[in-house]
Amino acid sequence: MNQPSDLLKTITAAKGFTDADTPLALFAEWLEDAEKSEPNDPNAMSVATVDETGMPNVRMVLLKDFDDAGFVFYTNFESAKGREILGQGKAALNFHWKSLRRQVRIRGLVETVSDEEADDYFASRARDSRIGAWASQQSRSLESRFAFEKSIAKFTAKFAVGAVPRPPYWSGFRVQPLSIEFWHDRPYRLHDRIVFSRDNVDTDWHKVRLYP
Ligand SMILES: Cc1cc2nc3c(=O)[nH]c(=O)nc-3n(C[C@H](O)[C@H](O)[C@H](O)COP(=O)(O)O)c2cc1C
Repeated sequence: MNQPSDLLKTITAAKGFTDADTPLALFAEWLEDAEKSEPNDPNAMSVATVDETGMPNVRMVLLKDFDDAGFVFYTNFESAKGREILGQGKAALNFHWKSLRRQVRIRGLVETVSDEEADDYFASRARDSRIGAWASQQSRSLESRFAFEKSIAKFTAKFAVGAVPRPPYWSGFRVQPLSIEFWHDRPYRLHDRIVFSRDNVDTDWHKVRLYP
C-alpha cells in the first residue's frame, strides 16, 4: 500500500489543536510557549481601530491581563487609539510570535476596566513610568523634545513627595472577544487556521476550521 504523501499528511494532521481546546486555554498555552521562545515582549500585540470616517489605524501595545472576560491593555484615553476605541467600541488584536510561526487574531467589543483595576495596575508601574503618563499628551503634537523634558521635570517636581496618582485620562481597555483565530505554520503554506466565534460575549463558542 502506498504511504500517504507529505502533502496529505500535512493537510490531515491537526497538531497543536485538540477537541478539548477552549480559545482561552489555547491562547494561554500559546502565550506560555511564546514566553519561552520570543527574544522580547511575548505579550506585544497590535491593536487595530477605525476612526469616525472608517479610516483604519494600527499600533503595538502590551497585553497586561487576560481571562474569560477579555484582553486588557493600558493607554492614554485621549490618544488616537483612545478616541477611536471610545468612539466605535470595537477593536481587533493581533499577536505574531515569529519564533513559533504562530498568529492569533482577536476581534471584539471594548469596555473600560474598572477604576480599581486601573489604579492597581498603575500603582505597579515604575515611578518614572507613572510620571511619564502625566507628562505625555500621547498622540498630540509636541513642539520639541525639550518641551517634553520640561513637562517631565514639572511633574517630577509636582509629585516629589508621596504617591503618583493615576491621571484621569489614563486607564485600561478590555477587548471582549467575539472571535479568536489561531493560525500556525505548516509546510508548503498549508497552514492550520481554527476560528472560535460567538454572537455575544455571553454565548457559547462555535469552532470552525478555515482554508489557509
Ligand atoms: C512593543 C510596543 C509596546 C507598546 N506598548 C504600548 C502600550 O501598552 N500602551 C500604549 O499606550 N502604547 C504602547 N506602545 C506605543 C504605541 O505603539 C503607540 O505609539 C502609542 O500608544 C500611540 O498610539 P496612537 O497614536 O495610535 O494612540 C507600544 C509600542 C511598542 C512598539
